[in-house]
Amino acid sequence: MKYYIGADLGTSSVKLILCDADGEIVKTVTKYYDVSYPHPGWSEQSPSDWWNAFSAGVKELAEGIDGICGISVAGQMHGLVILDKDDNVIRPAILWNDGRTFAETEYLNTVIGKQKLSEHTANIAFAGFTAPKILWVKNNEPENFARIAKIMLPKDYINYRITKVHATEYSDAAGMLLLDVKNKCWSKEMLDICSIDESKMPELFESYECIGTVSSDVAKKLGLSQNVKVIAGAADNAAAAIGTGTVGNGKCNISLGTSGTVVISSDKFSVDANNSLHAFCHADGGYYLMGCMLSAASCNKWFCEEVLETEDFAAEQAAITEDMLGNNNVYFLPYLMGERCPVNDTNASGMFIGLRPDSTRADMLQAVLEGVAFAIRDNVEVAKSLGINIERSTVCGGGARSELWLKIISNVLNIELQVPMAEEGPSLGAARLAMVGCGEYASVAECATVEIKNTVKPDKMLAERYEKKYKKFKEIYPNTKELFRTLMEENK
Ligand code: XUL
Repeated sequence: MKYYIGADLGTSSVKLILCDADGEIVKTVTKYYDVSYPHPGWSEQSPSDWWNAFSAGVKELAEGIDGICGISVAGQMHGLVILDKDDNVIRPAILWNDGRTFAETEYLNTVIGKQKLSEHTANIAFAGFTAPKILWVKNNEPENFARIAKIMLPKDYINYRITKVHATEYSDAAGMLLLDVKNKCWSKEMLDICSIDESKMPELFESYECIGTVSSDVAKKLGLSQNVKVIAGAADNAAAAIGTGTVGNGKCNISLGTSGTVVISSDKFSVDANNSLHAFCHADGGYYLMGCMLSAASCNKWFCEEVLETEDFAAEQAAITEDMLGNNNVYFLPYLMGERCPVNDTNASGMFIGLRPDSTRADMLQAVLEGVAFAIRDNVEVAKSLGINIERSTVCGGGARSELWLKIISNVLNIELQVPMAEEGPSLGAARLAMVGCGEYASVAECATVEIKNTVKPDKMLAERYEKKYKKFKEIYPNTKELFRTLMEENK
């Protein structure tokens, strides 16, 4: 039997799956690591922690299995990994949800200008993107900047450790603000703006192309054959789309992980005229538009674990009864790490509003779940304004395990939600890319099918109640934007 490994290098853990040649998941392993928050709004991770977790995971997954042919990694997007001339990591990776690049983002969007950025890359600057991070290192750590010999993204660092090849692929490269997304090549103008020579950039591949094989020392360490092909892989959101069948024109997938994303796939290149949604390359060779919220399931995790001091999320949600839905007077802004889409504001923070002496613990938790649903709706509204009509969406990520949350989201968006049979969106997408790269399928579209476990439909009355609540939610951020800015001043 032939086998394929798919991995998802996430923010809290690396999830690995082993698929057989029929695409069935036969084994899964998860290894955890920490995020450090060295300053309010900053987030970092050590690439060696990723590698240690990944290699321990592969070893466990591959134990006793013969016939592993291919491996492919999906990963958290935008993170900046910098290597020196000897390929040593220069500083901890700066992650996708890090908001330190306020000044650099402002510089790119106003001095270089949004129009130029959009012409060069199809996107504008958001604090989490890679280019502003490069400028931050240049401005704040010139000694580190001077040592940069290679710039990598998180999953590409893992691929480098496996193969010794410096490679990336279009779906992840698109999130750097250094790629000409439409023409699929590095943007010379953007590299100049960031003072980066093209020789420091990894080689570009399609997600399903082979970048090399496992190097001999790694093969020995992980218990793999040296013939195992390493397939370029994808940005986690692109891989999740492959895992949930979100390929071709006009399909939608919502991911409820640490971040929350709304991905709308497309055969053709298109760009949101206001650049509120990201215009990125897809892992099937096409494109997608995406809205990204920096905190989604992480809001629920934060509120339950840090505030309520419980890890039993289901028991906590059981206190939220049917009659409470659409009737909550407590609201929550889910901007724990600032917010990316559509508000693009690193100063924004989480906030409860509407508390009264009779507000309960359940009301507050409900507000957290609803706040994330309303923030997803903000992104769906942008898509609507572009003439994209989303009637249904698949949902993946840890948050999709909560039936209550799915009911809230379905009614807030007033669309049908479909939960795929396989929970492993990005790692399944990665395994599928490995299968395409090894010739098991002729194309990504051929393998990107989806089996639906259950469907959640909106209820007319409840959707109407949530429509009114959403209108109120929408008023909160514009009225607090300025206050967030003054509050954050102290931390700068
Ligand atoms: C997308 C984004 C996040 C990360 C999470 O733009 O920043 O979804 O990819 O891993």
